[in-house]
Amino acid sequence: MPAPPLEPFRIKMVEAIPFLTRAEREARLHDAGWNVFNLQAQDVTIDLLTDSGTAALSQEQYAGLILGDAAYAGGRSYQHLESVIQDLFGFPEIIPTHQGRAAENLLCSLLLEPGQVVPSNDFFDTTRANVEAQGALPLNLAAEGMWDPTTPQPFKGDLDLEQLEGLLLESAPGAIPFGMVTITNNSRAGQPVSMANLRGISQRLHESGIPFFIDACRFAENAWFIRQREPGYADRSIRSIVREMFDLADGCTMSAKKDGLANSGGFLCLRDPALAERARNLLIRLEGFPTYGGMSGREMETIAIGLQEAVTDSYLEYRTGQVAYLGALLTGAGVPIFEPPGGHAVYIDAGRVLPQVPGSRFPAQQLVCEAYLEGGVRTVEVGSSMFGYPDPRTGEVHPPPLELVRLALPRRVYTSTHLQYVAETFAAVVERKETLYGLEMTWSPAVLRHFRARFAPVTERSAVALT
Ligand code: F0G
Repeated sequence: MPAPPLEPFRIKMVEAIPFLTRAEREARLHDAGWNVFNLQAQDVTIDLLTDSGTAALSQEQYAGLILGDAAYAGGRSYQHLESVIQDLFGFPEIIPTHQGRAAENLLCSLLLEPGQVVPSNDFFDTTRANVEAQGALPLNLAAEGMWDPTTPQPFKGDLDLEQLEGLLLESAPGAIPFGMVTITNNSRAGQPVSMANLRGISQRLHESGIPFFIDACRFAENAWFIRQREPGYADRSIRSIVREMFDLADGCTMSAKKDGLANSGGFLCLRDPALAERARNLLIRLEGFPTYGGMSGREMETIAIGLQEAVTDSYLEYRTGQVAYLGALLTGAGVPIFEPPGGHAVYIDAGRVLPQVPGSRFPAQQLVCEAYLEGGVRTVEVGSSMFGYPDPRTGEVHPPPLELVRLALPRRVYTSTHLQYVAETFAAVVERKETLYGLEMTWSPAVLRHFRARFAPVTERSAVALT
């Protein structure tokens, strides 16, 4: 068993966590329709639902909250944020937004027409929804084997360049308005994307005159993996790797709630001043004036400081070490995970835990619910509930490549002891896996159904056989 990583901070302020009885958790989960998105946070002991907006701020960021400038136009905090982003990412045009999906909306609204196709390694669900909202088709291009949870490849987040080549050759001019790569690849178990892959995508798209954008949410974690795993990068600074990644792109969308180490916020970066002019016009209608775009000055200060903390070696070593440590605890306890562990989360392979439960009975969603019942641990399903819905154009249901449970680690929040508790909780669930028969979806909304769908447990094995 590897040693837990040394935390590069000490704790200055604490927040008590709730402990409920098993009977109380059963009642809460029943009321929540067996969907942990419907639980109250006060009923959760360890919350691994997301790493988004859940970071603990540093003392420097708290100081920034006080220094934050509330000016509507031309505020000091915006200037601070703009200069940090320009320095780190190298893009000249910065469009602030209230969070990542607002930046995606701006980009998609400006560049997409109905019927067009946008290739990606894998879209995050809001990005995919923003592409679809314009009537365009989001296309995920994963190479053979990259969804195999048992192999040790270092860059399983990569886009398949051969499939990209095929798509470009068969597409009419103008059919592909841009390509987008998500780093790290949240939908594919938080796996990183190599610099070689980013370079290949950038070159190929640019040869065809197609702009290349990066979904940058977890750019610092991705840069760390490039340094650890890609030949030629071992002696490079994280900042120089970050710059090399973004030099390949024409812009990026960013959720500051991840590697911005902030509780909210986001931005769109662009190189093209004419596109930026159009983006600012839309920004004023949708988000706010171009020097705040839906964020407060205090928030912009926390992001300006957080972005710089996120690219330090001591932080990234601890951060990725914590995820790897949780992965090792789980595999040591007999819980199968997607290997290797990702940058922000460990993904449990629920398909291997509950082979008797078909996708139509949501095995990963059931595992999520059982971990809550067992120990008050909240995680999230990345499987048939999130992805296994009918294609909007054909009505066909495409099953997801894997049934996964994501254990996303909030940044700088939980200790190694908390992680041991999480692993013990899942180990206890896995011990009684034979008694689990899946869930039935009793209601679902029209879009992004996993957030609000309701379920009921299937209590008899015969019900599984019926599907
Ligand atoms: N892109 C990726 C890769 C993401 O993971 C997220 C959010 C977004 C875009 C949207 O950013 O939330 O600021 O609007 N992911 C969160 C998660 C919600 O739990 O993975 P946002």
